[in-house]
Amino acid sequence: MSEQERPYGGGNDDPALKRVRTRHFQRAKQNGIKITGLTSYDCLSARIFDEAGIDFLLVGDSAGNTVFGYDTTLPVTMDELIPLTRAVAHAVSRAFVIADLPFGSYENGPDEALNSALRFMKETGAHAVKLEGGERSYKQIKRIVSAGIPVMGHIGFTPQSEHGLGGHVIQGRGDDGEQQLLADAKAVEKAGAFAVVLEMVPSAIAGKVTQELSIPTISVGAGPECDGQLLVWSDWAGFTRGRIPRFVKQYAQIGETLLEAARAYRDDVESGVYPAPEHEYSE
Ligand code: KIV
Repeated sequence: MSEQERPYGGGNDDPALKRVRTRHFQRAKQNGIKITGLTSYDCLSARIFDEAGIDFLLVGDSAGNTVFGYDTTLPVTMDELIPLTRAVAHAVSRAFVIADLPFGSYENGPDEALNSALRFMKETGAHAVKLEGGERSYKQIKRIVSAGIPVMGHIGFTPQSEHGLGGHVIQGRGDDGEQQLLADAKAVEKAGAFAVVLEMVPSAIAGKVTQELSIPTISVGAGPECDGQLLVWSDWAGFTRGRIPRFVKQYAQIGETLLEAARAYRDDVESGVYPAPEHEYSE
């Protein structure tokens, strides 16, 4: 799609008109225009994704894995995510930035959820928050939305409950699974969320949920019928070493590129090829 055909942002020079807003998510769904999202955890990647026209950047609690090297997302804290979210929010001019509420920052109820959301909004410059859970997070989402903070829901496989769910298990399968997924989606919509992530859900079920909802669905391994797609950028760019989920398409191999660059640099330093005269300052 050309910059001019985009329903928002794009080539617009007026900063006030350039920013993606929640109404643009709604407009995209109504007009059948797919929404693109990536995670981001630092200003360098955020600037590049913004320049490329990625609609939204999620500073995910996946930072627990991708930045801090934990085995799961469970240990990551607000104190760890806030500086990353601030770096991303300050780096972009068009993309809509979403702060992920980490495990332990909203499960105790609506007051705790609102306090955590307020902290992210005041301290980072993010435009919205995301939290996991459908029916079980209804009151939390409603309270945050009632304070004027946009919320993205997240249902299906929810990594913060990976032990409760018995590991990385596809959600929404079978009649009961489908009914629960639909009930969760409806609860998130009713609570006032502007969009909902469906993670690791069979495409046909995600398609039904997308039809049933007035808010956009964002797929993380939930197929092409969702209104948008979201991927963890280090998986998508081939930065992650090790296993990648099957739903990820890799658009680059920057891990290999960095490995080769680091080896070449080490060889040049050891052999005296670097620094060369053009890298030196004269007196
Ligand atoms: O933290 C994250 O990156 C996420 C997405 C995968 C949905 O929650």
